[in-house]
Amino acid sequence: MRAVTAAQPGGPEVLTVTEVPDPVPGPGELLVEVAAAGLNRADLLQRQGFYPPPPGASEIIGMECSGTVAALGDGVDGWKIGDEVCALLAGGGYAEKVAVPAGQVMPVPDGVDLVSAAALPEVACTVWSNVFMIGALQPSEALLVHGGAGGIGTMAIQLAHALGSRVFTTAGTPEKRAFCAELGADVVIDYHEEDFVEVVADQTGGRGVDVILDNMGAKYLARNVTALATEGRLVVIGLQGGTKAELDLNALLRKRAAVIATNLRGRPVEGKAAICRSVVENVWPLVAAGDVRAVVHDVLPLERAADAHRLMESGDHSGKILLSTAG
Ligand SMILES: NC(=O)c1ccc[n+]([C@@H]2O[C@H](COP(=O)([O-])OP(=O)(O)OC[C@H]3O[C@@H](n4cnc5c(N)ncnc54)[C@H](OP(=O)(O)O)[C@@H]3O)[C@@H](O)[C@H]2O)c1
Repeated sequence: MRAVTAAQPGGPEVLTVTEVPDPVPGPGELLVEVAAAGLNRADLLQRQGFYPPPPGASEIIGMECSGTVAALGDGVDGWKIGDEVCALLAGGGYAEKVAVPAGQVMPVPDGVDLVSAAALPEVACTVWSNVFMIGALQPSEALLVHGGAGGIGTMAIQLAHALGSRVFTTAGTPEKRAFCAELGADVVIDYHEEDFVEVVADQTGGRGVDVILDNMGAKYLARNVTALATEGRLVVIGLQGGTKAELDLNALLRKRAAVIATNLRGRPVEGKAAICRSVVENVWPLVAAGDVRAVVHDVLPLERAADAHRLMESGDHSGKILLSTAG
């Protein structure tokens, strides 16, 4: 099969399409003929040699895909050859075929085309697990999601809005801020010019927000804790602003608040399967009803994986960037 490989770690230019052996589905796995793969920020780190795949996972980059079931490993039931699916992967997505544990495979939600479905697994599983399963956001509560126009942000705004929460978000350009408002954000903050802590305090009468989904890590830690309401939950999923910062435990203690940091890729297969089941049960109906949609910025052929990485590095995108195997 054709797959995007990197002869050595480096810039986007190391990504080229080569012929590699087809993967073989093991017991409990499906072989998926890939229609499209979604890009994730972690892919950029993996290409640079900083984020190796978990033990046993494919060395090929790519943490999500959509496609058609092409073969079933031993002991798989509930799926048949030809089913249209999307899947959360530990690796291997930038290729024409990928083997994936059956529990990480989800049906394509009604109303979504097969290519666009590749935009859903990572953002739906990450947002659903962190904001709703771990952060336990309630309809009466307020969410702050940083980077609202990114892949994760566009899903977090839509889901929280659809489920009745008040949504605060940050974004870097006027176009992105307008897009966040269109998706359902109630308060959109310019992270270059405004202090999100002040805006949150103004807009909530000093109460703060109940859940924060954070992509910045160290850079925003202290300010995020200040912006939390009593019994608030700060869930850190990205470290774009560094890994180490001082945490004022007294501030946390006085609010009876929590700081949680999580990672989807490193979870065991059963943990990912539980998240996928919950996503199919809770998120897919909202997608089918048109309340939540896959936000696709661009679809490029596999051969242009390097350009796709350059686009993500530029930060000029809103929503997801996909690679299509169709050429
Ligand atoms: N832990 C996990 O399991 C997990 C899973 C998936 C993703 N993630 C992480 O989640 C984050 C978002 O991923 P993604 O796929 O959505 O990437 P993405 O589409 O490239 O989005 C990155 C976002 O970062 C925002 N940003 C940059 N500087 C910022 C700042 N100073 N303040 C606020 N926002 C800022 C950008 O906002 P503008 O475009 O407006 O500048 C953009 O929305 C990444 O850090 C990724 O690694 C973690």
